[in-house]
This record gives sequence, C-alpha cells and structure tokens, in this order.
Amino acid sequence: MPFNQKNNQGYRREFLKFLAGSPLLTSYSAFSQEVEETLGEKLTNPGQVINVFEMEALAREKVPPAHFGYLISGVDSDTTLRANREGYTRFQIHPRRLVDVSGPTDMSVNVLGAEARSPIFLSPIGSTGGFHPDADVGAARAAAAKGHHMILSTQASSPIEDVVQARGEGSVWFQLYSTDRWEYTEALLRRAEAAGCTAVCLTVDLPGGRNTETSAVLARGDDRFCEECHYGQAKPIFDGLDMQGVGLVDAALTWDVIGRIKDVTNMKVLIKGIEVGPDAALAVQYGADGIILSNHGARATDTGRGTIECLPEVIAAVNGRIPVIIDGGIRRGTDVFKALALGASAVGIGRPYCWGLGAFGQAGVERVLDLLNRELAITMRGSGTPSIAAIGPDYVQDVGHRVPRGTLGRDIL
Ligand code: GLV
Repeated sequence: MPFNQKNNQGYRREFLKFLAGSPLLTSYSAFSQEVEETLGEKLTNPGQVINVFEMEALAREKVPPAHFGYLISGVDSDTTLRANREGYTRFQIHPRRLVDVSGPTDMSVNVLGAEARSPIFLSPIGSTGGFHPDADVGAARAAAAKGHHMILSTQASSPIEDVVQARGEGSVWFQLYSTDRWEYTEALLRRAEAAGCTAVCLTVDLPGGRNTETSAVLARGDDRFCEECHYGQAKPIFDGLDMQGVGLVDAALTWDVIGRIKDVTNMKVLIKGIEVGPDAALAVQYGADGIILSNHGARATDTGRGTIECLPEVIAAVNGRIPVIIDGGIRRGTDVFKALALGASAVGIGRPYCWGLGAFGQAGVERVLDLLNRELAITMRGSGTPSIAAIGPDYVQDVGHRVPRGTLGRDIL
C-alpha cells in the first residue's frame, strides 16, 4: 500500500512528541523545529539541500514511519548512537597554513585494490527498498556517478548481480551475515564472488540479538499492515535457498572463521564490528585482510562508546599491517578528515545516504555524496592537506572529553 505521509497527521504529532522526549535529540533546536515544519515544501529538488541533516528531515517526511524508525534506531537508550556522533567532538583539527593547495584536491584512495575517487564508502544497509524503490541499485548508480566504493548488505533489497553491474566490478564488497548453516554461508560467498565482489566483510557484532526501541516506538505510528509486504519474504541473495529454519546469525563463530572463509573464496576477508585493540590484533593474527571498526551504526551492543573513540587503540594494535575502515556517526567532511588523520584508510556512511535515497532516490544519494565530498575538500584545503596521504596524526588532537550535544550546531541526528 503506498504511504502518504502528508495525510498521516497522527504520525506527525506522535513523531514530534517522540522527538521532544527523546534522549537522541537534546539539541532539537529552533533550526530543527523550522526544518520539521516547512522543509519539505521549500526543498523540492536535491540541489537545494545544504547538509545531510536537511536530507534526514526530508526523508522523515517521505519514508513510512516504521521504515524510518528502522533506519534511525539505535539500541536500548540510544546511548551509543549519541556517542558515535558526539565522539567526534573529542577530536579537534589542527590546520596548517601557507601550504600550496591551489591544485586539485586529491581525495582518491586505494584500499585492498579497490580504487575510489573519495575515501567515503557506502556502508551496508539492509532493506533499502523500504526507503525508496531505487534501493541498492539506485545507491550503486549514485556511487558509480561519484566514484565511491560500496559495501552491499546480505539483507540488500536488490540482487547482488544488479548492484555490481550498476557500480562496476571491483567496486563492490559483500557484507556477510554468516548463517547458522555453513553450507548456506558458502553458497552466499560463492554467489558474491561470482557476481564480481572482491572482498567479503564478515559482520561479527550481533551474536546476541538486539533491542531496537526507537524502531518499535516509531512503528506504532504506522497503521499499515506490515505482513502484507513482509510475510515470508527472504532477501534476493537467498534466491534458490530454502531459508526455512535457517538463522542469519551464527553465535558459535570464533576466530578460525577467517580461515574457513578463505578456504571457500579468493575474496579478501574483512572483519566488521571490531571495537577494541585486542580484537584488532587477533584479526591480524588470524589472517584478516582488513578491519571495519564499527558498532553496527550503534545497533548492536549499547556500549556508550563512539567508534571514533575506539579508533586510536585499534590503529595502535594493527600497527599498519592491514587497513582499518571506520563507520558510525559520520555526518560532516570534518568527521571524515578526523578519522583519516587518526589512521583510518577510509570511512563508511550508512544513514546519510539512505536519507538521500528516502528523500529523492538515486539523485538524493548523489547529493549526499556531493555535500560530504565538498565539505571534505574544503577541510583538506583549509588544513593544508591537498591529498589523502598528506593527512596525518599531527592534524588532529584528542582533547579527552566530548563536547555536549547542545553545542553541536545543526546536528539533529
Ligand atoms: C542490519 O544490518 C541492521 O542493522 O538492521
């Protein structure tokens, strides 16, 4: 059933009530109030949107409440969701002056053979078809248009072959939820490799389920009958597999899984969901080709620790042996800069590109990428770092405490 947000005044009221009481949005400011009231009428094409927060507000108007709730939810009290964002305020940029930055700003990276024009990767998000019919193929087309690398979720709405075709071989990695039946996991790996994926990113941060309360609260504002669309549906990656009784999480996995995956595939293997130094060291020891420092967009364990706050210890443990990619809370070019300065090889964004998708489909994703790339280029030039290689630890300082949310300007999460 098509969803018409404008006619759903009840949802709008509920949502505003939820925002007012939410720990998520203590900086819900006059700016965001104005956004909530009028933005959708003012901003009718993606080029008018000036930051990712506006894109979020637009997506909120267009995406059905239950789907939007799924996207923005953290877990428990959303403490980690806030930490992912606030964590960036611990780190301040130290710009250098009188460096010739008059040439083109080179933001290109090569991570494990994947070349991209920007260090901003698209992190895996499940069920993007719930935000816009363009879904993962639309995101892939946007990534191709702007030269971004993409990691596709096991739970993707679009078939992996279509996504690789839209983005281009070598530019898509596959995020894997290991099922609790190894022969199924092998089948997924083989399909991803045959489709042209060059790496698999094994998610390891959800062995115990999770408690997504914000999602549950917003779903109350959606009076559609969910089962009508969702009943009995497995995602396209499972086509041809009988998923009856098969779980998407194998809680028995241990570090030897890296070797078991390598026995099945020639794809590089990254471990996604590492948050502490000792695990980063183990990942290297067991042969991982890379690490994705992630807390699943604050949707796994409510640790209270932002990913950027974990980065220094992970980088120290890895000691340059394999690349580290970080995601969680990146909303500005300055955030990307800080992560790179602390030693990340690239960063991932999740919710921001889905806000673009929800607001305008593929064109919205392109706009989000343009906005973040522009902000990053400005930060690089303003700091005297005309290439990614020039950004090093001297350009950032950990001041040891987070700046309170109220001072985060336009961040409305
Ligand atoms: C999927 O990975 C999710 O967090 O919902």
